[in-house]
Amino acid sequence: MKVGILTGGGDCPGLNAVIRGVTRVICNNGGEVLGLLEGWRGAIQGNTTPLTIDNTDNIVGLGGTILGSSRTNPFKDEKQVDAVCDTFKKLGLDALVAIGGDDTLGVASKLYYERGLATIGCPKTIDNDLSATDQTFGFDTCVNIVTEAIDRLRTTAESHRRVIVVEVMGRHAGWITCYSAIASAADYFLVPEREVDLDEMCDVLAKRRAGGKKYGIVVASEGAKLKGGMVTSSGELDDFGHVKLGGVGEVLAKYIQDKTKIETRSVILGHLQRGGTPSAFDRVLGTRLGVHAGHLVLEKNFGKMVALRGTQIVPVDLKDAVNKMRELEDSFFEEASEFIR
Ligand code: F6P
Repeated sequence: MKVGILTGGGDCPGLNAVIRGVTRVICNNGGEVLGLLEGWRGAIQGNTTPLTIDNTDNIVGLGGTILGSSRTNPFKDEKQVDAVCDTFKKLGLDALVAIGGDDTLGVASKLYYERGLATIGCPKTIDNDLSATDQTFGFDTCVNIVTEAIDRLRTTAESHRRVIVVEVMGRHAGWITCYSAIASAADYFLVPEREVDLDEMCDVLAKRRAGGKKYGIVVASEGAKLKGGMVTSSGELDDFGHVKLGGVGEVLAKYIQDKTKIETRSVILGHLQRGGTPSAFDRVLGTRLGVHAGHLVLEKNFGKMVALRGTQIVPVDLKDAVNKMRELEDSFFEEASEFIR
């Protein structure tokens, strides 16, 4: 049995744990594994590298992806879809495990349903916005990075009696914001799921200052909805049609300073949130997903995505797993909101 693996979309900590998990299961059962380089680009161009038990043994703690990644979308051009199918044939692949977010898994789903390719999906993203799984790997590491960054920002904010607005990733979902706001005892947070009343936010910050608190921390989702919509860094779209977000922190900082007269700064944490070593949680979740994806391949149970449900890893149909964003749930928002009144 010959199995391909690729990692697509924005990278995240834990990808290498999945690669190692799939490789181990396939090799333990006498199969061969090929890594396709740089996401669907490698599948189009046929660029590969061999994966073995030896060369994947020590990658569980490595950040990023040893295979490289890209946001290439073969379905932008039918010829590229044909090229993926040709690569599949030329390499003699029996199955392909695609590790990615909604975009990458959407491609895996279409290849299965429209072209009959034997694909399996594995959900990743720091954004935690995939509907069919309780949590994506990468999210835990990201929240830890943001929390540590805010712990550092708090001391300088306090020294200078400032408010600091921390802009975090997550696209159109507020999971990273909500979790890190709770973990870092933020004074206010803004998520894309709720349109924000900026004056109410300023009132909370001013009230706390009047009550003697010498600093303020605001955590804002890059996709936070202000009146008039989201702030975008440019009109640029990626291959899947997503607009680049960014800049809301600066807008908020100016508003807060003008309205409250408290000196305010903003920090965009950006790609720091996706870099570096995965947490133990993400190493374990990634490994378990990889092992289960490997077993689905052995069982020839294709067109599935491995998902975390409660504490167990289960297969779900790829078609039910894609195109449905998982927004921040109301209960999480309400729990966190107790601390921003
Ligand atoms: O989906 C993961 C993510 O990190 C989002 O949170 C963010 O908006 C986007 O990717 C950034 O993409 P890029 O790495 O292409 O700038």
